[in-house]
Amino acid sequence: MRLLGLWCLPAVFLLVHASERELDWWESTIFYQIYPRSFKDSDGDGIGDLKGITSKLEYLKELGVGATWLSPMFKSPMYDFGYDIADFYDVQEEYGTMADFEELLAKAKELDIKIVLDFVPNHTSNESMWFEEALKGHQKYFDYFVWEDGVEDENGVLQPPNNWNSVFRKSAWEYREEVGKYYLHQFVIGQPDLNYRNPDVVEEMKNVLRFWFDKGVAGFRVDAIAHLFEVDKEKYGGKYPDEPISGQDLDDPLSYNYLNHIYTKDQEETFDMVYQWREVFDEFKEKDGLTRVMMTEAYSSPQVTMKYFGDEQQNGAQMPFNFVLISDFNGQSSAGEIKYAIDKFLTFKPIDKLANWVAGNHDNSRVASRFGPKLVDGMNMLVLLLPGVAVTYMGEEIGMVDGYVSWEDTVDPSGCNTDDPINYWKSSRDPERTPFQWNNDKNAGFSTAEKTWLPVAEGYEQLNTEIQLNSEGRSHIKIYKGLAKLRTEPAFRYGRYESVAFNTDVFAFRRWYDGDVYIVVVNFRDEPHTIDFTYFEGVNGHLEVVVCSLESSRRRGDVVEANNAKISESESIVLKLVQ
Ligand code: GLC
Ligand code: MG
Repeated sequence: MRLLGLWCLPAVFLLVHASERELDWWESTIFYQIYPRSFKDSDGDGIGDLKGITSKLEYLKELGVGATWLSPMFKSPMYDFGYDIADFYDVQEEYGTMADFEELLAKAKELDIKIVLDFVPNHTSNESMWFEEALKGHQKYFDYFVWEDGVEDENGVLQPPNNWNSVFRKSAWEYREEVGKYYLHQFVIGQPDLNYRNPDVVEEMKNVLRFWFDKGVAGFRVDAIAHLFEVDKEKYGGKYPDEPISGQDLDDPLSYNYLNHIYTKDQEETFDMVYQWREVFDEFKEKDGLTRVMMTEAYSSPQVTMKYFGDEQQNGAQMPFNFVLISDFNGQSSAGEIKYAIDKFLTFKPIDKLANWVAGNHDNSRVASRFGPKLVDGMNMLVLLLPGVAVTYMGEEIGMVDGYVSWEDTVDPSGCNTDDPINYWKSSRDPERTPFQWNNDKNAGFSTAEKTWLPVAEGYEQLNTEIQLNSEGRSHIKIYKGLAKLRTEPAFRYGRYESVAFNTDVFAFRRWYDGDVYIVVVNFRDEPHTIDFTYFEGVNGHLEVVVCSLESSRRRGDVVEANNAKISESESIVLKLVQ
């Protein structure tokens, strides 16, 4: 047997090394998403800020993170907490000054942490100079936005141009008396959509990218990209047509899901715009050699998502966000459904592109709340060890839970627009935006203020970074750090991938490279199982525990029989084949 193994070695050796190449900075790193308002408040006003972030960059370094993407910190009246931008070239006062941002960049550079910003191209704020000028009848800026005449109903009352609804519920049209027309806002009233059929808008927004690249940012996360274009109304007799009814939310015609968004989402022109932006990104790479990375945010089908990568002719985003860990399964899903969801992106993605894994962000309920606290480490194992780039939302490394925010305290427009003091929490995004939990001081060490912009989640006295970093035993954050380190092993950088649902509860995958073989196993249920890992080719004998979840009774270095491995309730483990 052994002899045979040796005989095969040269062939395997050659095969494996053919796939190895030097990875670019973004391909092997972890991107850590910071929601600036909730990360760290440096001046005691109850609102996170840039100086706060700068003071915590060392924390990111310690985690093993090499890049951070920041939700918007630009000037904004905060109707959508920064996603309504009044000045794309300036910093919001509450968050600091341009000098503070430059300091943040400098400190990040010192620590070799890349800074990625949020590019919000779909809309501005209704308090932007551009929109204000538009209302004054300044033609150049009027043409920056999407306008339409209202229609009179049978009583002669003016109504919106058509049935389009905003993502946050209610009509997507708002009337402005100054110009006697309605403007389109796919999000809140304070977010008028920009008109991408106007070349001036296209150029203006490219300049926004250039401005921040010149300052030294390493890329952009591109917001709400699927909404960029509306159908060309000239093809419909000069009027935007109604969208068809989807069959969902039939009791609420004002809900976004009530309609099928064939005229306002995923329009073909969107992809070309992404390719054009990529050219701007590459202009900067040509100058200094640093790859500028683009991540696109679209909750679309895999077929549509892949188009953001580009094609043979043109390059697009390096990272069209892969949201399957958010959208395609939950705590009730079977291991088979989980495998199916994970395979989806891997199956559709072009062979020469990288996958990426995102389990949480500022728009979705936290991992610990969706899957239960016992699965926090298992989900971090998926994000950090599946093949591709890892993206972590701040707080997921310690297993933060959704905070409780009362109807009275709710500020997210998505919650407020429900007009429903009972069920608002299902739509509100405040729970996943509560302040970061640093320690068990006042306001979890986030701020010294009397009142923070959102209440701190209950239980922070036991759930915070300080306790977890200093704990004698295991903790989520220590496990996370272990995984971040493991991720730098060749098997996880270059290794191949194979996955299996062993039964309805247990999902596992193998990564292997150059003789190293790892198995990552996650039991999604509170039921114990005995697993035969010799199912995986080349796996037999013994496996050694490398990392295990918080409540696992195993220890690092424990040895498991490959053909008879007991996996306890909700246990997640990384195993390595003993050679
Ligand atoms: C994106 C953001 C979300 C924001 C919306 C409008 O989905 O992630 O927070 O509300 O775009 O800009
Ligand atoms: Mg502050």
